[in-house]
Amino acid sequence: MRFTVLLNAALVSLSAASPLSGSAATLGLASWNLEGYAKDNPIGPTTGGEGGETVYVSNAQDLLEAVKGDEPRIVYVKGEISLPERLRIGRNKSVLGVGWNAHIKQNGITINGVDNIIVRNLKISKMVDADGIGINNSTRVWIDHNELYSEFSEEVGPDTYDGQIDISRASDWITISWNYLHDHWKSSLVGNSDSLRDVDFGTLHITYHHNYWRNCGTRGPAGRFGHQHIYNNLYEDFHFQAIHSRSDNQVLVEGNVFKGDTPIALDTYGLVIPKDSPNTCVCGDEEIDGFANLGAKNDWGGAIVNITQEGDFTKADYKFKLTPLSLVKPLVWLGVGVGKVWV
Ligand SMILES: *[C@@H]1O[C@H](CO)[C@@H](O)[C@H](O)[C@H]1NC(C)=O
Ligand SMILES: *[C@@H]1O[C@H](CO)[C@@H](O)[C@H](O)[C@H]1NC(C)=O
Ligand SMILES: *[C@@H]1O[C@H](CO)[C@@H](O)[C@H](O)[C@H]1NC(C)=O
Ligand SMILES: *[C@@H]1O[C@H](CO)[C@@H](O)[C@H](O)[C@H]1NC(C)=O
Repeated sequence: MRFTVLLNAALVSLSAASPLSGSAATLGLASWNLEGYAKDNPIGPTTGGEGGETVYVSNAQDLLEAVKGDEPRIVYVKGEISLPERLRIGRNKSVLGVGWNAHIKQNGITINGVDNIIVRNLKISKMVDADGIGINNSTRVWIDHNELYSEFSEEVGPDTYDGQIDISRASDWITISWNYLHDHWKSSLVGNSDSLRDVDFGTLHITYHHNYWRNCGTRGPAGRFGHQHIYNNLYEDFHFQAIHSRSDNQVLVEGNVFKGDTPIALDTYGLVIPKDSPNTCVCGDEEIDGFANLGAKNDWGGAIVNITQEGDFTKADYKFKLTPLSLVKPLVWLGVGVGKVWV
């Protein structure tokens, strides 16, 4: 596996500074196979299109067609594809980019009312007024080794593009791993609106691990009503508010690294800041607070940690490989985004 090679290379280059060496140690450093809620949950591991036919697509029409239906199918995406409409993925599908340059443009991905979906190794960029990946009313989803970006600046503002990975409407058992999420305002919203509180409450179990957030504004992620286990992510220049747990949401936060211009690492105070959106008031929107618990040590990098209440989500109820804190930055740098795994 190519990623094993990469990790070994990482180890060799790290070995001057660290006592770790050899692939036995490598195996203990991080998992690049499925891990977290999309694997360990009451309905079984996410398998996507495993066991189904394999198809290669390189244009929009073929791609839109290939992801339809319930039968398991593995869809390999080649090159750049501008979609005339959103890509609505059916049940039991793997959608996998080939090589370094599989790239979805113009319209993003919709995962709605389905189960058992894998999306890996794709670039997804600049979805004007829409989500890169939108997940509603769906279970067992693995979003891995993708790169999502648009633009981040005051002129662009929070509302030009919508979320990168937004998850709502009782979606459950999801893992978001090894993605490179950069140059974007509102990254990942979990739980959409107060009107969906009863629908969402107690669902939205999501694992975020080994993602690299760089030059983003808010929602890394922002969670409401659910449970998110957030470990071994690297945050660099996350300009307003990285992890936000509000409206009774619970987060378990461990082994993450925060760097650069990142003023707020973690906040459970319910105020939705004006730089987030939508806001009905220039002073921000008031929600009730969320909960946060801390597990393994984080490197906050001087950022604010504002935990107004601790919850009962103190431990993940599955096995996972926790990367030692000092190796999070180099491993995440090397491991995230496209072209890192042969899929
Ligand atoms: C597709 O997924 C559904 C729900 O996840 C499952 O019940 C069904 O057996 C799968 N279909 C096939 C043909 O395997
Ligand atoms: C959610 O998806 C299921 C199919 O899995 C569908 O039967 C149901 O109507 C959907 N619910 C909503 C609220 O959209
Ligand atoms: C998911 O549901 C939310 C809440 O209704 C909605 O705002 C969003 O557009 C939906 N996303 C998709 C991809 O359908
Ligand atoms: C932290 O929470 C307190 C409420 O307990 C609030 O007054 C304060 O503004 C919060 N700070 C940030 C940075 O959100």
